[in-house]
Amino acid sequence: MNKTIIVSNRLPLQVKIENNTLNIKPSVGGLATGLKSVHEEGNGIWIGWSGLTEEELNKDLSNQVNKEVTKAKCATVPLTQDDVDNFYFGFSNKTLWPLFHYFMEYTEFDNDQWEAYKTVNQKFADVVLDNIEDGDTVWVHDYQLLLLPKLIKDKKPNTTIGFFLHIPYPSYEIFRTFPWREELLHGMLGADLLGFHTYDYERHFLSSVKRILRLDVQFNEISYLDRVVKVDSFPMGIDYKKFHNAALSHLNQSNTEKSELQKRLDDHIQAGPDTKLILSIDRMDYTKGIPNRIRAFEYFLNKYPQFKEKVRLVMLAVPSRSDVPQYQKLKRETDELVGRVNGEFSTVSWTPIWYFYRSMPFDNLIDLYTSSQIALITPVRDGMNLVAKEYVATRVNQDGVLILSEMAGASKEMNEALLINPNNFEQLADTLKHAIEMPAEEQSKRIKILQKRLQRYSVEKWAEEFMKSLNDTKKIGKTIV
Ligand code: UDP
Ligand code: G6P
Repeated sequence: MNKTIIVSNRLPLQVKIENNTLNIKPSVGGLATGLKSVHEEGNGIWIGWSGLTEEELNKDLSNQVNKEVTKAKCATVPLTQDDVDNFYFGFSNKTLWPLFHYFMEYTEFDNDQWEAYKTVNQKFADVVLDNIEDGDTVWVHDYQLLLLPKLIKDKKPNTTIGFFLHIPYPSYEIFRTFPWREELLHGMLGADLLGFHTYDYERHFLSSVKRILRLDVQFNEISYLDRVVKVDSFPMGIDYKKFHNAALSHLNQSNTEKSELQKRLDDHIQAGPDTKLILSIDRMDYTKGIPNRIRAFEYFLNKYPQFKEKVRLVMLAVPSRSDVPQYQKLKRETDELVGRVNGEFSTVSWTPIWYFYRSMPFDNLIDLYTSSQIALITPVRDGMNLVAKEYVATRVNQDGVLILSEMAGASKEMNEALLINPNNFEQLADTLKHAIEMPAEEQSKRIKILQKRLQRYSVEKWAEEFMKSLNDTKKIGKTIV
């Protein structure tokens, strides 16, 4: 039977070694959490990096990793410490990530890291080619593997290849600054279908292809060599049922079944008739607007002091890419800001910000989502933002308010949220007040529409539509000779 091979830098599981034994955890981040349910139900395999380097593995550990990974229908790409430093922390996260998120001032152009990026993309290609059989379909994901479609197509021209970018695609004015721009675009055009979260990202990509490679583009089809490459937008959804059902069973929990976290959250909620929790969940990433959010919350408490001792910002920041200096700087800045705001406003019975720097298991995420009357999601740039969608899916009583940055791809499909510009503190403070005071009927009206849309366009549907469109390219792919 033909299979689908999913390829991404990160596998849905992360392996670490602690005290000489393997510790296996689910991966964090939209790509892994979103695609996981699609992969579990399909008959394919998922190829990616286990999270360990070759240097960390001896033969015994390596066998154990392979066993675990195979059990999860995955296969690993072996990466050395040098690969991880130059390809992952280096080119992927010091060049492509900041550039594609419009952080030009953070972007490094380093030729050695570019070489490492090419070498590691080839390593991924080698593992894919080892696993591929005639008739298989390959679905490549994200900015770490932009060269991979071409590397596979060159060796296996009859393979149908899809590519999906989980981050924004920047405007031509940004992309043109990239020194290896032609090679990168050729790498992507190895695919038969290229998918983006929004129409804007798709448009930016087409504009780069037209202006840099001077290719003929008709609507969303590019004539490339002897093929047609199709480009389209597919906004990624979530496993709606998983979040909604988890929240429903959460409602029926007895006191003894509640987690410690839930008990502490309840303490705050029950402290008074108008006490409210405001939630944010992100990887600790400079694109997520974390310092802006804290400053805006401080501004809000000064502007509307009547909410002191009533509202609390619960901020979960998951450690991410902590070998990259900008991420370390952000962590220091966040620690300092939280300390400042808490120092300034805390009373004996109230701390304005509860700050967790760790990842949490799924059940605790549900505790947070279901206990928070407001979600405050303020990225300065974000490909999609699944947290916004997960929050809405867990609002089983149709209450709650989502405040969402216009700069997140998700805002394009979530007009019923309160949309804000994350750089406008005045607007943010006023929107927080509006959210806290929003009548129940209005909350319910907005949440219901959002839920309906999320339910309809779930992650399963997203994958199905992408695959359908990819299969259709088999027909159009043959029309140009
Ligand atoms: N998440 C997680 N563990 C945590 C916190 C968050 O697995 O402790 C998940 C969260 O549920 C969401 C994903 O991480 O599915 C974050 O995806 P999003 O699209 O919001 O942002 P990204 O991290 O991909 O930039
Ligand atoms: C975003 C990216 C993913 C990445 C995830 C977590 O969602 O689009 O490709 O896997 O962040 O980041 P990490 O560097 O830990 O894989």
